[in-house]
Amino acid sequence: MNFDLFADDTPKGRETIGPSAVVLRGFALPEAQSCLALLKQLQAAAPLRHMSTPGGYRMSAAMTCCGALGWITDQHGYRYTTVDPLTGQAWPTMPDAWRILAREAAAQAGFASFEPDACLINRYVPGAKMSLHQDKDERDHRWPVVSVSLGLPAVFQFGGLKRSDKPLRVPLFHGDVLVWGGADRLRFHGILPVAEGEHPLLGAQRINLTFRKAG
Ligand code: SIN
Ligand code: FE2
Repeated sequence: MNFDLFADDTPKGRETIGPSAVVLRGFALPEAQSCLALLKQLQAAAPLRHMSTPGGYRMSAAMTCCGALGWITDQHGYRYTTVDPLTGQAWPTMPDAWRILAREAAAQAGFASFEPDACLINRYVPGAKMSLHQDKDERDHRWPVVSVSLGLPAVFQFGGLKRSDKPLRVPLFHGDVLVWGGADRLRFHGILPVAEGEHPLLGAQRINLTFRKAG
């Protein structure tokens, strides 16, 4: 038996962190530069803003969206909308390159034919974080979440199905793509406060794109 065959079967830099959750190290690196150019255009149409939780807390990550649906939070709760409440316009179209990147990453993780209709864009400056939460406002949880990290590194907390389950700590770097679905789809997760730093392409910030099929 040729054991090298098995080694070659495993894509480089693939880390399994759950039954249906993988980190694809550097998967988005070839797209990183063009992602940033697209991000600039999207931000001009739908500016980053700090949303508030239903409980009245201002989120430390600034957020915007693209795609047919965008996720918002305000005093009325968490939900997907077709219109950006800040501009009164439809959310900007999801760039084809992003849709394809998300579909290819999902396929690598075992989720064929993923067609995201929502992309949440989070911007973290040093000190910003995201508390443990579940992504559960999407209609059909059979589709995974595909998360692309750019800029400063961060520690992703990957908990269990209960908020009290002790989370794994998974470092995420520029260009990494994390996919979670299936049995892992409703696991609590979050981001620890981003450490000070200066990224050569993005400066003192981390950008995260999460792709979902929400509608
Ligand atoms: C999220 O949970 O929606 C964002 C996670 C991240 O910033 O990596
Ligand atoms: Fe999330």
